[in-house]
Amino acid sequence: MTNEELLGKAKEGMRHAYAPYSEFRVGAALLCSDGRVFTGCNVENASYGAAICAERTAISKAVSEGCMEFEKIAVVCSAGTRAYPCGICRQVMTEFMPEGHVVLEDEKEGITEYSVKELLPGAFSRKDLIHE
Ligand code: THU
Repeated sequence: MTNEELLGKAKEGMRHAYAPYSEFRVGAALLCSDGRVFTGCNVENASYGAAICAERTAISKAVSEGCMEFEKIAVVCSAGTRAYPCGICRQVMTEFMPEGHVVLEDEKEGITEYSVKELLPGAFSRKDLIHE
């Protein structure tokens, strides 16, 4: 699947965004190693802290369906600018796709691909848990 196709799936995911508070709609599409794609959107709540980001929605959907190997995740937002993942999403990506990549798009400047490692250098992970 090309980055353009995966970004298209992320835009489909964004259609379901529930963002009445921020009015900032986000969509994600997660490509699994077996070729499956899981989409996600941000889901907000009147209790603001209960919101979940689009990236974590997609990752949680995949893990809950037994899919654990991911290659890349595309993320888009209603602003049309690069939808850089928040810190919590970068941490969750580190857990499930440390060798993976993140595909972003800016309507004017085009597509950019980052490795999860470059988005969260020196990440805390299970190797840091001394009892492991
Ligand atoms: N948001 C995401 O969906 N992904 C991110 O990585 C950053 C932020 C959402 C959460 C909230 O619904 C809205 O964007 C504004 O923060």
